[in-house]
Formats: sequence, structure tokens, C-alpha cells
Amino acid sequence: MKIAVTGATGTQGGAVARLLTERGHDVRRVTRNPKHPNDVHGDFDDPASLERAFAGVDGVFLMTPLSDPNEVAQGKAAIDAARHVPHVVFTSATNADRGTGIPHFDTKAEIERHLAANHPQWTVLGPAAFMGAEGPVALPIPPDLKLYVVAPEDIAAMTVLAFEQPERFRNRRIDIASDRLTGPEMAAIRGTEFIEIPLAKAERYSADLAAMFRHHTEIGLDLDIAALHAEFPEVGWHTYADWIATRTS
Ligand SMILES: NC(=O)c1ccc[n+]([C@@H]2O[C@H](COP(=O)([O-])OP(=O)(O)OC[C@H]3O[C@@H](n4cnc5c(N)ncnc54)[C@H](OP(=O)(O)O)[C@@H]3O)[C@@H](O)[C@H]2O)c1
Repeated sequence: MKIAVTGATGTQGGAVARLLTERGHDVRRVTRNPKHPNDVHGDFDDPASLERAFAGVDGVFLMTPLSDPNEVAQGKAAIDAARHVPHVVFTSATNADRGTGIPHFDTKAEIERHLAANHPQWTVLGPAAFMGAEGPVALPIPPDLKLYVVAPEDIAAMTVLAFEQPERFRNRRIDIASDRLTGPEMAAIRGTEFIEIPLAKAERYSADLAAMFRHHTEIGLDLDIAALHAEFPEVGWHTYADWIATRTS
């Protein structure tokens, strides 16, 4: 299959492009700064460039950059540019469709609605927090709160499965996480320390991210990891410990 991957120079798109390539698909890596043979120019602020980048492909992997004030306009423009593409897989965020009031979740919900209303074949994946490996585990959450986390490689595996088995993923919205554990548990796996950042301090850095962590603490995400992993065993879901081991080995 020929698949255009947005955000291909970033975390999610990079993992998706790598796995699609490994599985023998023809990947168009969409970026504002093409450097490699499979790169094509595409800018979310230039809809004509997206039309060109998506011309003739079988699928589009769509991500939208975080906290851009134009995220909704960019997402909608990309969906419109993909109107002739047989299948669009959009990566959103866990429970973004639940009216959480978290700004960067609500923007994604608006993009999700535009996709569902305007495209005949779509899949929305709602990833939890991406697994990270750098520095201390410094988060504005209490030490006993279990955080849902996802390996970018598992987002990629779900995406590739969706493109390869479109009927199984047809017009479905699926929240995804690989593991669930506390900040101190993550820190122990990494051999580092857990630092609980005061929420007020996080608020000064980003009201949007602070709203997300407040939601995690006071309401919590609704995601059934056991059911997810039972439905999609092919993904080979990473535990956090497994994923950290792959980074350090
Ligand atoms: N971090 C988390 O824990 C988490 C969890 C759930 C959801 N999310 C969501 O994931 C998204 C970020 O994904 P990511 O971390 O994979 O991205 P990333 O690593 O931050 O990379 C950003 C990508 O966006 C592309 N980009 C930025 N502006 C662009 C534009 N105007 N036109 C075309 N491409 C543009 C960049 O490509 P070029 O610079 O090459 O053009 C780059 O590939 C955010 O929406 C965030 O809310 C994050």
C-alpha cells in the first residue's frame, strides 16, 4: 500500500513510517523540510501542499502538532485534502471525545468530529501519554496515581494493523495504552527518582497540560487495557519495563 505519513519526522509519525517501511509498504514521509528520498513537502498551513502530498495514496496517517493555535484548522484542512484517500487514521488522545475541558483534548475532539462527518472510512486512535526514557520522572501527579502510558511503537503497530485490516478498524475510535503504572514505579524501572511537581507550578508552565494532569488525578481516564490487548494481541504491547530495556540494550 502507498501511505502518506504526516509528522514523519516526529515521534508517532516516525514510528509509523518505520514500521510501514519494514512491512514493505510504500511510504511518503510528509514534512515541511524534505531531506530524504521518500520525503514529500507538506505543510498543515498550506492545504495545496497537502493535496499534492496525499495524491494517489491508499491511506493517510494524520497527526496534528501540539498546542499550535491553528490545530483545529490544520486538522480539518488535512482531512479535506484527504477526501479522496480511501482510509484516514487520525491519532488523537485518550478520552479526547469525552468533553474533558482539557484544551488540547477538545481541539482533537473537534478534528475527530470533522473526520467522522466528512470521510467514509476513518479510524481514530486515542493514545495515552507516550513512554519516555530521559531524566527523572517529574510529573504533577500524586505518587500513588497509576498513569496510562503507550509505546510509540505500539501506536505504530495499531496504525499499520488499521491500514492492513481496514474492515476491522472501519469507522472506529479506539483509545490505546500499553501499560499503567505510578510515577515511582516508572522511576524505579529507569533507576531514577520520582519528583512530584506541584500542580500550581505546572499551571505556570502550561495551563493546558496542568488541566490534563488535574483531570488524570481528579477524574481519571477510562480505558480497559486488558480488553484492548485481548482484542489486538498482534500489536505485541510493550510493558514499560520492556520498552525501557529496548532503549538501553
Ligand atoms: N506526548 C504525549 O504524551 C502525547 C500523548 C497523546 C497525544 N499526543 C499528541 O501527539 C501530537 C504530537 O505528536 P508527536 O509527539 O508524534 O509529534 P512531534 O514529535 O512533536 O513532532 C511534530 C511533527 O509535526 C510536524 N509539523 C509541525 N508543524 C507542521 C506543519 N505546519 N505542517 C506539517 N507538519 C508539521 C513536524 O514535522 P516537520 O517539522 O518535519 O515539518 C513533526 O514531524 C500532539 O497533538 C499531542 O497532543 C501526545
